[in-house]
Amino acid sequence: MNTVLAELHDKARAALDPVHYDYYAGGAGEEVVLGENEAAFRRLALLPRVLRGAATRDLGVDLPGGHLGMPLLVAPTAFHRLAHPDGELATARAVAAAGTVLVSGMAATVAIGEVVAAARAVDPAASVWFQLYPQTDDDVTACLVRRAEDAGCAAVVVTADSPVFGRHRRDAEHGFHDLPPGLAAENMRDLPGGPLGGTLDIGMSPTVSWRHLDLLRELTSLPLWLKGVLHPEDAVLAVDHRVAGIVVSNHGGRQSDLAPAAVEALPAVVDAVEGRVPVVLDGGVRGGGDVAVALALGAAAVGVGRPVLWGLAADGEAGVARVLDALRDEFDHVLALCGGRGLADLTRDLVVTRGTGVT
Ligand code: FNR
Repeated sequence: MNTVLAELHDKARAALDPVHYDYYAGGAGEEVVLGENEAAFRRLALLPRVLRGAATRDLGVDLPGGHLGMPLLVAPTAFHRLAHPDGELATARAVAAAGTVLVSGMAATVAIGEVVAAARAVDPAASVWFQLYPQTDDDVTACLVRRAEDAGCAAVVVTADSPVFGRHRRDAEHGFHDLPPGLAAENMRDLPGGPLGGTLDIGMSPTVSWRHLDLLRELTSLPLWLKGVLHPEDAVLAVDHRVAGIVVSNHGGRQSDLAPAAVEALPAVVDAVEGRVPVVLDGGVRGGGDVAVALALGAAAVGVGRPVLWGLAADGEAGVARVLDALRDEFDHVLALCGGRGLADLTRDLVVTRGTGVT
C-alpha cells in the first residue's frame, strides 16, 4: 500500500469508533473477496518500456459525465459523516480541488444538492455523479433521479450488484444496522411513499432487472453508468441497454464473497465491450502502481473507496486531499518508470503474472 495511504489508514483506525471502523473496513462472508481485491494486484507486475519517456505526462481523461485530471475517481461509499462531521461536504471539496469526480452515494449523510454546491464552490466546473440503487417503486426512483438532475449532477451510476444486502459479519457482531441518532440518509427524505430518511429506507430487491435500467434510460438524458458488472455477457447487455460506461466492481468485497477479484474480472469485460463504452475498475486500488496495472488491462480509470474514507476520518478535507494527491503523484511516477508519455502507453502487453513471467 502507498505509504501515505497506510499512514492515514492507521490514523483513521485510531480516531474512529471501532464499530464504525469495522463498518467501513469489513466485507461480506469470510472476507475472501475483500482480501483478494488487493492480493490480486500484488500478483501482477508491469514490464517497463525503456528510452521513450517524456518530461511531463498528461494524466487527464474524458469520460461521459466529466473530465478527470487523473484517471481516478472517488467511488460511492455510504455515510461519510460517520467518519467526519463535515461528511460528504469535505469529500466533495477535496475531490473538486483535485480535479476529479466524486460519485456521491444515495446513502450519503448530506443531501446531493449540498454536495454538488460544495464541489462547485471550490471549482465551478467540478463534476459530481449520483449513485443510485434502483428502487422497486418506480416513483421513488424517478424522484431520486430528479433530485440528482436538479442538484446539477453530471451522470448517474446505477449499482446492479446488490439484489440483497451483503452479509457483513463484523456489523452483525457489533449489532450495527443503522445510523446513530442525528445522522440520516438525507437523499431518502420526503420521497413518494413516505420514508423518513433512514438508511433502512434504501431498498434492495432481487426483482430489480434490466427493465429498471431501461426506465432510468427514459427518465434522464444524463450519462448512465452501470456499476457492479463482473460477467462479460452482462457488459454486452449493458451496452445494448445504452449505458455510457461500465464499472467493473465487486462492491469492495461487500456483496458476494464468491466473486473474483475485481482486477481479475477486468480483461474479459474490456474484451467484451470492444471499446464501445469506457470501463472503470474499482476494488483494492491502494497505490499508483495499481492504477497503472488497471489501465494497462484496459480500464479508462479506477475508483477508490476505502482509502478516501480513511483520509476523511484521519483529517477531514485535508486527509482526502492527501489521499488523492499521493495516488496521483505515485501513478505519475510509475508511468514515468514504465516509459509512459501518456495513458495510451499503458497497454496489456506490459502486464505479466508474477511467478510465471507471462502475460
Ligand atoms: C461501499 N460501496 C458502495 N457502492 C455503492 O454503489 N453504493 C454504496 O452505497 C456503497 N457503499 C459503500 C460503503 C462502504 C463503507 C464501502 C467500503 C463501500 C462500494 C464502493 O463504491 C466501491 O465499489 C468499493 O469501495 C471499492 O473498493 P475499495 O476501493 O474500497 O477497495
